[in-house]
Amino acid sequence: MAEAELMKEIERRRTFAIISHPDAGKTTLTEKLLLYGGAIHMAGSVKARKAARHAVSDWMEIEKQRGISVTSSVMQFQYQGYCINILDTPGHQDFSEDTYRTLVAADSAVMLLDGAKGVEAQTIKLFHVCRMRQIPIFTFINKMDRASKDPFSLMQELEDVLGIRSYPINWPIGTDGDFKGVYNRQLRQIELFYGDQSHGQAIVSSTRGTVDDPVFKELLGEPYYSRLVEEIELLDMAGDEFDLGKVLKGELTPVFFGSAMTNFGVGPFLEDFLKMAPPPGPRAFGEQIISPEDPNFTGFVFKIQANMNPNHRDRIAFMRICSGVFRRGMQVHHSGSEKPVRLAQPQQLMAQERESIEVAYPGDIIGLFDPGIFRISDTLSTTPGLTFTGIPSFPAEHFARVSAKDTMKRKQFLKGITQLAQEGAIQVYKQPDIGVEEFVVGAVGVLQFEVLEYRLKNEYSVDLKIQRLPHRHARWIVSSPAEPDQLNLTSSTMLVHDGRGNPVLLFENEWSVNWARDKNKGLELSDISP
Ligand code: G4P
Repeated sequence: MAEAELMKEIERRRTFAIISHPDAGKTTLTEKLLLYGGAIHMAGSVKARKAARHAVSDWMEIEKQRGISVTSSVMQFQYQGYCINILDTPGHQDFSEDTYRTLVAADSAVMLLDGAKGVEAQTIKLFHVCRMRQIPIFTFINKMDRASKDPFSLMQELEDVLGIRSYPINWPIGTDGDFKGVYNRQLRQIELFYGDQSHGQAIVSSTRGTVDDPVFKELLGEPYYSRLVEEIELLDMAGDEFDLGKVLKGELTPVFFGSAMTNFGVGPFLEDFLKMAPPPGPRAFGEQIISPEDPNFTGFVFKIQANMNPNHRDRIAFMRICSGVFRRGMQVHHSGSEKPVRLAQPQQLMAQERESIEVAYPGDIIGLFDPGIFRISDTLSTTPGLTFTGIPSFPAEHFARVSAKDTMKRKQFLKGITQLAQEGAIQVYKQPDIGVEEFVVGAVGVLQFEVLEYRLKNEYSVDLKIQRLPHRHARWIVSSPAEPDQLNLTSSTMLVHDGRGNPVLLFENEWSVNWARDKNKGLELSDISP
């Protein structure tokens, strides 16, 4: 592969995730983006995924029927010379670590808000992960065809709740349920909204190049015209300057108003987004920084998904390519083992279809058949000795005591729990003095308990007894004035050990965390595992 060609492939790639609170319109927007890419036949499949979040059992059913994970699809399509990878983050009410890890594989994020609701709880959580990584965040404010919050107060909310400055690329006209369209600030044109039928394609340009063009006055009428002129003046005067450097550092978010359902604003958004969003950049593997144009192939595993189809008991490891060229059948070093690995059955995950691939480039995600050798963060590279360090472990917020209903199934129970812990689906703790027939399991989202129950039954034939615990915080003991079991703690605080034998305290609330610190001078706690 000529160097120039690799450069060209990198330059044209955009790998991003859409983050949003359920119901903001992520399924709808994804579908519209795919339609732009000419992947029309996929629209239905995206819609079908929506069923996923209604009930866990539905979701499992879908997984089974398709034989591929619907929660972790990667959709690739081409548009105007760009190669676009959309990473799907599950739309469940509950967060799992998967969602966060997926963001590590993305180079930028689209934050989708419902114009009537603004910044919602799950948007905040996901935003913070993007912030941690300092990736660019593009905001699409959706459902403008309906009454929405005032656009200035939406900008204020972005700043107050998320702490990010914003730059509106366009500005909505009529936000009381009387949506007329948007004013495109850069092109100085009004893009008119005609409702469902015309898909908002009509564009009226200013002949004068300013918002006070009489053409607009006639077109919009009052009070819309005067209000627009006023608001644009205010924005130009008091708003932030556009600064691509700040956008790329995640300090300023470009804001687009639109309506995914009617397709209004989706096309202009996609085009601006593609121009501004970065192609794959360098990634840190410990001390080493690897550039995408490095001819040596490097990728890391960010997600492992067991296949629910009983006919194919396989697992898929999702790998994000960071440098060089991936070729089917290539032999690589694997950070998790001493042995070389041949990447013989790579799969590209296009919506729900598996497609075998021959070649892939930085920014692409491929599914690798996993005979049980891969772990989260594993690095695959033609360069030996590399280990990806960019996937943080997220503190569990929900805990449960689990055991097998049938004590005769202890062996399978242990195997299943160990397997799921290795996949990163759950965190496993042991209570002192309790044998391997019972564990304390931690999860980032409560849905993970249901997945655990389902998978143990289906893959290991073990019926689980799950007893939810009231604890909400796990803290590792960094240094302690006494043996962990001698500490002065509230009666509800539980001492457990993580998979590596480190002592961990589980607390019901922040108050008991502080209590432990106050009553035990010199006790140092951390919410990150050592
Ligand atoms: P999600 O994946 O983020 O959870 O949201 P999804 O796209 O499923 O959209 C949630 C609801 O919001 C859907 O309505 C969808 O049609 C609607 N919606 C999405 N974009 C827009 C928009 O731009 N304007 C308006 N007015 N509505 C929008 P639903 O009634 O829950 O489902 P359905 O009847 O469309 O199946």
